Amino acid sequence: MGYLLAVAEVRYRKLDALTDDEVYAAYEPPADDWLRVNFVSSADGAATLEGLSGPLSGEEDKRVFKVLRARCDVLLAGSGTVAAEGYGPLVLSPDRMAWRRAHGLPEVPVMAVASRTLADLDPAAGIFTEAPRRAIVIVPTDLPEAQVAPFREVADVIATGTGAVDYAAAVDALRERGLRQILCEGGPRVFGDLIAADLADELDLTLSPLLAGAGSIRIAEGTASDAARPLELRHVLEAGGNLILRYLRDSTDE
Ligand SMILES: NC(=O)c1ccc[n+]([C@@H]2O[C@H](COP(=O)([O-])OP(=O)(O)OC[C@H]3O[C@@H](n4cnc5c(N)ncnc54)[C@H](OP(=O)(O)O)[C@@H]3O)[C@@H](O)[C@H]2O)c1
Repeated sequence: MGYLLAVAEVRYRKLDALTDDEVYAAYEPPADDWLRVNFVSSADGAATLEGLSGPLSGEEDKRVFKVLRARCDVLLAGSGTVAAEGYGPLVLSPDRMAWRRAHGLPEVPVMAVASRTLADLDPAAGIFTEAPRRAIVIVPTDLPEAQVAPFREVADVIATGTGAVDYAAAVDALRERGLRQILCEGGPRVFGDLIAADLADELDLTLSPLLAGAGSIRIAEGTASDAARPLELRHVLEAGGNLILRYLRDSTDE
């Protein structure tokens, strides 16, 4: 008997028991325009350990992380995450690129980086200069052109909002470019803004079997939301003690 329990609509499964095709199928997006957010957290709610997400994550949930990257048109991350996690050029393994080709997608997604000031980003960094597809930077409209100009050499610029990025307009701008499947890998400030603007359609959250203790940030920080957004639990994958949770916005009509 396989390890498969169906309780109401929620499916509990061992990730190890799934083929790659089944993992891809488990993350089929419900709509052509879709914004999913992927995070890892300790069991007591920390988004970082020693300032990084890496120690919270393992090979097990990386399998889902990579499938989510392979499934998106654009990978969105905030400047804080790009700097802290040392994001390089967005490349995928040959098998992920083959999966994309077989599904009529360009071999790699586009990388988009959001920032208020561009202060912590370097236009000479590999994330821009070695990008297989020209990257995008998302900034507020009132950022002085002198700060934006060096990035225009290496990336497309989407300018929205005054003083801070207007994420609703930024998401519209990505969709107008045909980048309709948006995967956001954070960080917490970007997620806080997305929740406040009610833009997150899905949260993919790995709960790592660790107690981080006090002092860490949560997966949502910064801008407060005027309401709690209800979610519907779609599945639970278990791997190495990690719970890999897929939540959809509760109003999703499939
Ligand atoms: N657990 C996970 O899955 C996970 C995922 C991603 C990131 N992380 C961790 O999260 C941390 C980074 O968090 P983050 O929230 O700073 O990253 P972030 O959301 O990626 O980026 C911060 C964004 O907020 C802006 N910002 C910075 N200071 C601000 C302020 N005082 N008020 C309003 N906006 C501000 C930044 O603009 P500027 O460019 O102008 O500074 C940038 O656009 C890192 O330690 C990273 O390892 C964890």
